[in-house]
Amino acid sequence: MVRLIVDCDPGHDDAVALVVAAHFGELVGVTTVGGNAPLRDVTTNAVLTCQMFGIDVDVRAGADRPLVAAPRYAPQVHGVSGFSGPALPPLERSAAEGHAVDWLIETIRGEEGLWLVPVGPMTNVALAFRRAPDLVGRLAGVSFMGGSATIGNHTPVAEFNVLVDPEAAAVVLGSGVPLRMAGLDLTEQFVVDDALAANVRSIGTPGATVIADLMLSYLDNIESIRGERRGGLHDPCAVLAVTHPDLVDHQPRSVAVELNGTLTRGMTVVDRRKRPDAGPNVAHGHRIDHVTARRLVIEALTAQTART
Ligand code: RIB
Ligand code: CA
Repeated sequence: MVRLIVDCDPGHDDAVALVVAAHFGELVGVTTVGGNAPLRDVTTNAVLTCQMFGIDVDVRAGADRPLVAAPRYAPQVHGVSGFSGPALPPLERSAAEGHAVDWLIETIRGEEGLWLVPVGPMTNVALAFRRAPDLVGRLAGVSFMGGSATIGNHTPVAEFNVLVDPEAAAVVLGSGVPLRMAGLDLTEQFVVDDALAANVRSIGTPGATVIADLMLSYLDNIESIRGERRGGLHDPCAVLAVTHPDLVDHQPRSVAVELNGTLTRGMTVVDRRKRPDAGPNVAHGHRIDHVTARRLVIEALTAQTART
């Protein structure tokens, strides 16, 4: 079974990614980063997710701001707290002591062959790699949700996670670590819609009910932004690319991040030409078996439940 760490900024799709990781992999630990909402909120959301779904691993808070850029959040998509929408159960757990980056360095130095799965801005990963470059040779790889080979979401060309911290994404993309990329061109193939929310709600557990309510709140927000009640279930794709590698088709690609463009900052430039300027640094996910992925997500959300 794959042993992995998830670095996240819950959001509903991060929460689903945690449940999928816990159910289909050996989740070693969870780290959080400011992104969809401020660090305090996303850390609370990650602890609550682990509580609701009986995931017995520590959650540690990491960076509360990007390497260089000013903090940027997504209240218009996930609400001010990142978990806006449902009535949430009272918090019965707390985050573990210590900074996430210190824990990442210690944990990855202590065990070879872990997968690191960042599904928020990659600030924690970049800080860890800068402080401890030896981590690159110890990881099985980094499977990240971020970027896009086609259009953006928060700008015409930039995806949110990379847009929040492009400098961090550039550090990770240039590190030499084996990389699997779940960009918007992949994750928008895995659709969240009212039917999926209803399917999740029919699971009937308190945790699944919260996820279903979060999905409806997400769809309401997407509808007001984009005029349609459908969006990508982004973050679980980066986990499934590791736990179920046959589910995602990857191609070796050269990928770089634009740091300076007025209109294009945060864009991931995926070179898909027959003769790219540089050699491949990323396994770019371009197709996902979203029917099977949906079945696996429902299976995980059904099986993982709080220990009463
Ligand atoms: O652009 C999608 C990404 O931004 C997802 O990780 C979602 O959770 C938000 O963080
Ligand atoms: Ca996320």
